[in-house]
Amino acid sequence: MQTFQFLSVAVLALVASASASSHSINVINNCGSPTTVQLPGHGNFGAGSRTINGDVRGGIAQACSDINGVGCTSVEFSLVDGVSSADITLIPPHKFDHPASFTLDNGKTGATCSNANCGPDNAFYKSTDYTAQRQVNGPNSSIRIQFC
Ligand SMILES: *[C@@H]1O[C@H](CO)[C@@H](O)[C@H](O)[C@H]1NC(C)=O
Repeated sequence: MQTFQFLSVAVLALVASASASSHSINVINNCGSPTTVQLPGHGNFGAGSRTINGDVRGGIAQACSDINGVGCTSVEFSLVDGVSSADITLIPPHKFDHPASFTLDNGKTGATCSNANCGPDNAFYKSTDYTAQRQVNGPNSSIRIQFC
């Protein structure tokens, strides 16, 4: 009985969080390579525009076929009801393979990494390169990602 009540509460919490916010994710790839987008808890996708209901934590996108972005320039993002953040990562096993850029909330902030030496203001080379991170605040944050 107690287990059932706990589950009911958990399900209600999930439903509540799912209706609380929605996030537009638009991934454009002009590189001519495959696109992989991993949205934990929501599925794996290719290029294109979609709206996700609920939080997206630990999302990652790249212009290569490796769903985890191994050997690729990857854009990492978390879109939540609150402070959302995104960055370009070149931390190994990621590696510059294509130019990448993103903007949050229709251009409010963003970053561009055009070459392997784009620097820590634009991409993470090591985990302490916080200057590469971008943030926005609000319930329905969105991201536009472009490769090449
Ligand atoms: C955020 O999105 C949810 C779900 O689509 C909507 O109900 C809500 O009104 C939106 N909030 C704002 C501030 O736009």
